[in-house]
Amino acid sequence: LENGTLSIIVLGASGDLAKKKTFPALFHLFKQGFLNPNEVHIFGYARTKISDDELRSRIRGYLIQGASSKDLEGVTKFLQLIKYVSGSYDGEEGFRQLDKEIAVHEDSKNSADGSSRRLFYLALPPSVYPSVCGMIKNYCMNNSDHGGWTRIVVEKPFGKDLESAEKLSNQIGELFDESQIYRIDHYLGKELVQNLLVLRFANRFFLPLWNRDNIENVQIVFREDFGTEGRGGYFDEYGIIRDIIQNHLLQVLCLVAMEKPVSLKPEHIRDEKVKVLQSVLPINDDEVVLGQYDGYTDDPTVPDHSNTPTFSTVVLRIHNERWEGVPFILKAGKALNSRKAEIRVQFKDVPGDIFRCKKQGRNEFVIRLQPSEAMYMKLTVKQPGLEMSTVQSELDLSYGQRYQGVAIPEAYERLILDTIKGDQQHFVRRDELKAAWEIFTPLLHRIDNGELNPLPYKPGSRGPEAADALLEKAGYVQTHGY
Ligand code: BG6
Repeated sequence: LENGTLSIIVLGASGDLAKKKTFPALFHLFKQGFLNPNEVHIFGYARTKISDDELRSRIRGYLIQGASSKDLEGVTKFLQLIKYVSGSYDGEEGFRQLDKEIAVHEDSKNSADGSSRRLFYLALPPSVYPSVCGMIKNYCMNNSDHGGWTRIVVEKPFGKDLESAEKLSNQIGELFDESQIYRIDHYLGKELVQNLLVLRFANRFFLPLWNRDNIENVQIVFREDFGTEGRGGYFDEYGIIRDIIQNHLLQVLCLVAMEKPVSLKPEHIRDEKVKVLQSVLPINDDEVVLGQYDGYTDDPTVPDHSNTPTFSTVVLRIHNERWEGVPFILKAGKALNSRKAEIRVQFKDVPGDIFRCKKQGRNEFVIRLQPSEAMYMKLTVKQPGLEMSTVQSELDLSYGQRYQGVAIPEAYERLILDTIKGDQQHFVRRDELKAAWEIFTPLLHRIDNGELNPLPYKPGSRGPEAADALLEKAGYVQTHGY
């Protein structure tokens, strides 16, 4: 990392995202020595008028969960790095004050040749992005005289459809260069998502097989076994497609489906991702199932007649030489029977099935993103014993067993470190975002207009039955016999 001061400014410091994700991720980086207390200062900014200590004690509870006594000392040291400034998101006064505080820190710690780096993390709703970015640009950029940089980190929901996202991109784009904007999709920080490129392009096994000649269908699945309690107000405005599918699952799809990039340079990788997104055909109504779990509207923050989907299966079709005819089935749901995120690549039947083992199921390659990261290949083997019969078994690489004792970093931790390093590989580029919205906007508008309505499903179930029927229609064959 470079020399000089680093100021990390968390805007929306008293909100849920900051407390649950941003500050704990910063703490983990601190613990591992990535945030040097001689250089780093952290500023929390929000509207609430509280003291430094009040903010610290609000955060503390989230840092000490599962901490050892040695960690507790670290927690105290870490909290000492945090200062709080209160102010509004659209008035200059607070931002002038913030700038002053940052400058005090920079002056006290910077050597003559050190640069001043400022990282603004917007843990805020997107409605205030433009005004906050404007304030930062006008009042908090005095560091530019000292070298260094200013970077802005934003989170989804980045817009609600193509038009609103483009508007937001234009507003922010007028203030900051694309190289300064880091759009987080935290799925890109997950270990097994980051593993996808290595898996696909560093293994001879996969190279010749990864195409329409061999693969029958691909599923990218996200399930949660809890509903939207506590955030119904947010969720109802967005729904499962905007919350999970248009961003997290689509990013995973890009990495599964893209061509090999020219190099590992962020721009080369993102160029390939954009091409995949641009090759997705318009979504067919017959290939969408929407669901809403019973009891969703009981939440007082959700309107009684809401038609917001909490579940959806959508089939995407990629119109290119590698994937034509292969359905990519994206499925996400709240309040289902389990919590799991996985990719399932199902291969075609073996031609000339002399073992008559077809009914046992096809080869399938499964990448479990969470929980318990794992990759396994389902394959047919001879049933051990005297008889010549077959059975489906697995080649299994479970991370918990294979990498015992290796701590897998949290997505946010990795991504924040990338923003400090200036590596945009795992962030969503503006054209990528646009292409992602282009795919889903027509469908989302039809749902918003009440033209498509969700089917009810029981909390704790697999979702509406129609989703399983769609899966079958798309050619997925459930494996039996294992
Ligand atoms: C967030 C969504 O982006 O991702 C939440 O807004 C969801 O609704 C969460 O619960 C899931 O993240 P993870 O890392 O637990 O799979």
